[in-house]
Amino acid sequence: MEYKKMVDQAKMLALPKHIGVIMDGNGRWARKHHTTRINGHKRGAEAVREIVEASVEVGLDYLTVYAFSTENWRRSKQEVHGLLKLIINTLMQEIDELAANNIVVRFIGSKKGLSDDYHKRITENCQKSWKNNGLNLNVAMNYGGKQEIIEAVSSIVKDVETGKISSDDIDHDMLSDYLYTKSIPDPDLLIRTSGEFRLSNFLIWQAAYAELWFTETLWPDFNRTEFLQAILDYQKRQRRFGAT
Ligand code: IPE
Ligand code: IPE
Ligand code: MG
Repeated sequence: MEYKKMVDQAKMLALPKHIGVIMDGNGRWARKHHTTRINGHKRGAEAVREIVEASVEVGLDYLTVYAFSTENWRRSKQEVHGLLKLIINTLMQEIDELAANNIVVRFIGSKKGLSDDYHKRITENCQKSWKNNGLNLNVAMNYGGKQEIIEAVSSIVKDVETGKISSDDIDHDMLSDYLYTKSIPDPDLLIRTSGEFRLSNFLIWQAAYAELWFTETLWPDFNRTEFLQAILDYQKRQRRFGAT
């Protein structure tokens, strides 16, 4: 089906409110094209642009892309450095256009391991978009679901100790409010590219009832048509949330 038709069709049914994307396969794409891993990541960043545009076209509320995990520090120094540089440079290059398109950009993740200066530059650039009310684009950067829960538990313990909250008040909603994703609805649909079938520590609390969609396509080759395909497939599914 033609892309434009897919968009029209998707708009006729309830859309997922929030889509999470595990953008995997940049390294294998690079090997296939006889180039460096960092060039693969650069092509991956270009694919993000297309998916953000498609998200706006279809009228999605929340898109979260997994850019760098707390486990990705295990890669070579050269690749880690290249990724950190690419992420901040892409943000600086794109933020004005993103903001002009009414997109709200937020980074979610741990501060641990990132310099204060790096963190400050991210916040300063993202802030340019915070007056907007269109697509919410979340970049999961230095993100790990387990680290997120550890930081939440640690803050909760502190707030119990200082009497700000009582331990009797701890429930699902309260814990959710201590996560990086506070006030962001849980993802309805999770997409992973490159033929791997795992979550790799992405939104593990929030994705408890997410619909999962996998493709063999390597992330730099992922395009708007396949993104719409995932949405149309999602719309055919029946979600139960444990009920009959
Ligand atoms: C995904 O591509 C991007 C990041 C994890 C930052 P990979 O770099 O994991 O690509 P493969 O899995 O090695 O092909
Ligand atoms: C997940 O991909 C992290 C990101 C896409 C940023 P990885 O390539 O790091 O995941 P594993 O190591 O194959 O599980
Ligand atoms: Mg990978």
